[in-house]
Amino acid sequence: MIIIGSDHGGLTLKTALISYLNRRGFEVTDAGTNGGASVDYPDFGQKVAETVVAGGAESGILICGTGIGMSIAANKVPGIRAALVTDVFMARMAKEHNNANVLVLGGRVLDEQKACDLVGAWLDSTFEGGRHQARLDKITALESKYS
Ligand code: RB5
Repeated sequence: MIIIGSDHGGLTLKTALISYLNRRGFEVTDAGTNGGASVDYPDFGQKVAETVVAGGAESGILICGTGIGMSIAANKVPGIRAALVTDVFMARMAKEHNNANVLVLGGRVLDEQKACDLVGAWLDSTFEGGRHQARLDKITALESKYS
């Protein structure tokens, strides 16, 4: 299960990505927004991030205009590793090295084909573990220090 959310700046891309994910056979939960009205991206970032850490979805995708606000918001939730990516190499590394459980995209930055390529690269990659797990453990320790 993948949960996907956006604000108004990411709505068009979210709709395209849901079609892409469905074509690829993934089960998708749409966390909104579902209208063109201006909304606040932290509300949707929180919903997706909390669902992922609670185990209600294996991973999440968030989209706002640039992806910046969504990544800042989602990364406030302990246990979330949200990665804002703009090219295929970053998308692959986000999984292989960072084990990102949320992928963040900019709806005003990417065209639909590029966004599908990024999501595909992330989903089709595997976390390498090893030294990368040790680094993630340090991030978890950092979260604990400030929680
Ligand atoms: C909304 O206009 C815009 O600020 C938002 O989509 C996002 O880009 C914030 O980081």
